[in-house]
Amino acid sequence: MAEAPLQDAHGRPIYGLDQNGYPWMNALATVMYLLVDPDQPISQTYPRLHRIVRRRFHDAMIARGHTKISQCTHADAKGIRTDDSEKQAEDLELSSNETDKTRDRWRKACEDLTDIWDRTGFYGAGTFASVFSARHRLMPSDLWAVKMERLKTNQMAWLKWDSPKMTRLAEDTGELPYVPREALLLLLLDQCERFPTLHSVYSCGSYSSTIMEGYADDAHSVAHLTQPLPADYDQAAARLLPSRTGIVLMDQKRPVLNEIQSCKVASQLLEGFAALRDMNVSHGDLSHNNYMIQEDLETHLIDLGLLSFGLDDVDFQAEISGHIFFREYQLTPEQAMEHTKLLDGVDFEGLRKFNFDCKLPHDARCFHLWHLVCIFYEVLHGYAAWENRAWNPNLSREQNELRKFYLTTVGVDEALARRDRLINEDLPIREDLSQDCADMLRMTFEKDPPLRPTLTEMEAMSWFGQWAFHPEGEFHRPPVEDVTYPPRDDVPCPPRDDVTYSPDDGVPYPPHDD
Ligand SMILES: Nc1ncnc2c1ncn2[C@@H]1O[C@H](COP(=O)(O)OP(=O)(O)O)[C@@H](O)[C@H]1O
Ligand SMILES: [Mg+2]
Repeated sequence: MAEAPLQDAHGRPIYGLDQNGYPWMNALATVMYLLVDPDQPISQTYPRLHRIVRRRFHDAMIARGHTKISQCTHADAKGIRTDDSEKQAEDLELSSNETDKTRDRWRKACEDLTDIWDRTGFYGAGTFASVFSARHRLMPSDLWAVKMERLKTNQMAWLKWDSPKMTRLAEDTGELPYVPREALLLLLLDQCERFPTLHSVYSCGSYSSTIMEGYADDAHSVAHLTQPLPADYDQAAARLLPSRTGIVLMDQKRPVLNEIQSCKVASQLLEGFAALRDMNVSHGDLSHNNYMIQEDLETHLIDLGLLSFGLDDVDFQAEISGHIFFREYQLTPEQAMEHTKLLDGVDFEGLRKFNFDCKLPHDARCFHLWHLVCIFYEVLHGYAAWENRAWNPNLSREQNELRKFYLTTVGVDEALARRDRLINEDLPIREDLSQDCADMLRMTFEKDPPLRPTLTEMEAMSWFGQWAFHPEGEFHRPPVEDVTYPPRDDVPCPPRDDVTYSPDDGVPYPPHDD
C-alpha cells in the first residue's frame, strides 16, 4: 500500500483516508459521511457544508424511522460481509460461469432481498446497471426499482485510477457499512422531491442492489402491483415497464410539451441540480435517459453514478475534457473547436466509435450546466440546439436523429455540419417562445465559458418557476410512444471504464499523461 501523503495537491489536509489507507484526495465517498459529525476537522473547516449534510442526514433517518440501510447479511468463506471495510481491499472477480449480463444479475440477486421483495418485471438497463421493478411483500402497494450492478470495491477503483464508488454510512445501530456512493447521495436527498427515495441496499457477492422509488405510469404500476409474478427471468424480461425518461419528450423533432409544461420540467431539473449543488456535487451524467417524467409532468433525476464533488472551487477545475459520442447534442462550442483543431484532416469517422478525450481546461460544473440547458432547448424545440430542424421522412430514425448520428454516414456528415454551426452561428430560437424563455436560452447558451451564468444566476432567471402560477390541470403529459429497452442478453454490458469523465472525483494523480 502506498504511503498516504499528508496533504492533497492543493495543500489541504486529506480528510478521511480510506479505511485501507488509500490517499483519495478528499473524494465524496471518503469525506461525505464525516461531514455528519460536528467534531470532525472537516466539519469545522467547512461549516456550511457540514450543516447541510448533517441536517439532511438526520432528516432522512427520521423520515425512514431509523431503519437499516445496508441489509445483506451474507458473509464470505472468511466470514466477511460484502459491506464490510475489509472487503473494500479486495478485487472482486466474477466466477467463470458469469458474464455480467442482465440474466446473470437477476440470478445473482441477494437471497435476503428476494426473501422480502418480489421482482415484478424489468424497467431498463443503462450503461452500467440493470433495473428491475419490485414490490415489498409487507407493503405491496408501492412499486420500487432495484438497480443492480457490478460492485466496484475501492480497491478495484484504485487499480483503475477511478474515484471511490463505495462509501461508509453511519447506521443507527452504530455500524459503519460501505454502501454505493449513489445510495448515500439518495439518502441525503431524501427531502428533495426531485430524486427517488432510497429504501435499502443489498451488497452481496460481486453485485450491489440499490432499492429506490420506482417511476411508472399509473396503469403500468397497477398492473405490476396486482398481476401474478413472473415465474422466472424470461417472463420478467418480457414484462417491460415502458420507460418514461426524457426521451419521450421529443417526437420526430417536434416538442411534445408546450412552453409552460416544458417550464415545469426544466425548473424541476434545475431544482434537482440546486439540491446537489448545495452539497458541492455536480451531476456529471445528465442525458435524456437520466431523468423521468410522470404523467403530471413531475420530473425526477436518476442515476447519480457519475459526478463531480469538491470542497472548494479548485476541485472542479479539470484539465481534460471527455466526450462521449452519443452525447453529441451536449457538446460545448469549446469542445467542438478543440476537436476540430485536433482532428483537422483526420478521419472524423472515428467519432462514431470512440469516446474522445482532449486537453481542455474547464470547470466541470460549467460543462454540466451546458448539458442541462441542452436538455431544456431540446424539450422546448423537439430538436437539439443548432441541429437541422427538419425531420426527413425519407430517412430512417437513425439517420434523422442527432443522438443516433454515429450509426450512419448521413448522421456523421450532419453532426459535422452542426459542429460548424455550433461554433460559428447564433443560437436559433423558436419565435413563438416567450421573451423570458428566449432570454434564458440566449444567456445560458453563451459561447464564451466565463460569461455563462452559474447555477445560482440561473435560479434568478425569471422564466424558471413560472409554471407554478398555472393551474395543475395544464400539466398532463400528452400521449407518448411506449419506449422499452429489453435486456441485452445477447451482448455483454459495456464495461464501466468505457466512459471517461473529468474531473474524476478525488483521484490522487491525473489518470492521463499530459
Ligand atoms: N427509479 C427508477 N424508476 C424507473 N425507472 C428507472 C429508475 N431508475 C432507473 N430506471 C430505468 O433504468 C435505466 C438505467 O438506470 P440508470 O440509473 O440510469 O443506470 P445506468 O447507470 O446503467 O445508466 C434508466 O435509464 C431508466 O430507464
Ligand atoms: Mg443512466
